[in-house]
Amino acid sequence: MPSPFHYAALSIFPEMFDGFWSTGMVRRAIMGGFITGKAVDLRAFAEGVHKVTDDKPYGGGCGMVMKPEPLMKGIAHLQSEMPGAPVIVMTPQGQPFSQSLAEDLAREKGMIMVCGRYEGMDERACIKADMELSIGDYVLTGGELAAMVVMDAVIRLIPGVLGGEDSAEKESFSEGLIEYAHYTRPPVYEGMEVPAVLLSGNHRAIDSWRLETSLKRTFLKRPDLLEDRSFSREERSILQKWSREIARLADN
Ligand code: ADE
Repeated sequence: MPSPFHYAALSIFPEMFDGFWSTGMVRRAIMGGFITGKAVDLRAFAEGVHKVTDDKPYGGGCGMVMKPEPLMKGIAHLQSEMPGAPVIVMTPQGQPFSQSLAEDLAREKGMIMVCGRYEGMDERACIKADMELSIGDYVLTGGELAAMVVMDAVIRLIPGVLGGEDSAEKESFSEGLIEYAHYTRPPVYEGMEVPAVLLSGNHRAIDSWRLETSLKRTFLKRPDLLEDRSFSREERSILQKWSREIARLADN
């Protein structure tokens, strides 16, 4: 068995991660020896009896700033335990997180997630960061939830973590399309029927139906994803079929 990937988060609220490590797929990944995960208390690296991790901003203004010393010590400690793991600072000013970044990060041996709080981190501690990541254009009360979002997206891509061999590949965004619609039993629910092709047992027909619904859902819900995408022959012929159908309706 290959050596596990190591995930660590540095935070003043390490208990926020308890449910993350102990639930569902992430728990299974830990139990199965695919990954290790821990949250480390930033206060353990702070000086004095009060273990203070924040201070007033130079130049005035509201809010508090995370002190550089505990951050630097905490990061150095985790780097010594996890050599080579990138240091990722969670901040709304970071690079937007995406599925393709998750794929890149799943090839690393692990990640050190630094979770900011208050108004942010002292700029001098940011030099330790290999990457700054944002999970969206909104401001959370801290980086913990954002770190869990990133780790969750990365961990499920680690070989062996997802049950089905190819389930991570054949899904939303991994081929630049939104995923096709899913159905399970019963075949009729409150008068709504499962598309007949899915009950046909004809796998070629099912694959083409899935591709067409993927394309349709992407066109309707996230047309931006189609802008810079190159299409396969089959995709192009589906688009041409739609275009002929639309032209026929428009000419009526
Ligand atoms: N910390 C606070 N808001 C954040 C966001 N949107 N992404 C990453 N880290 C954050």
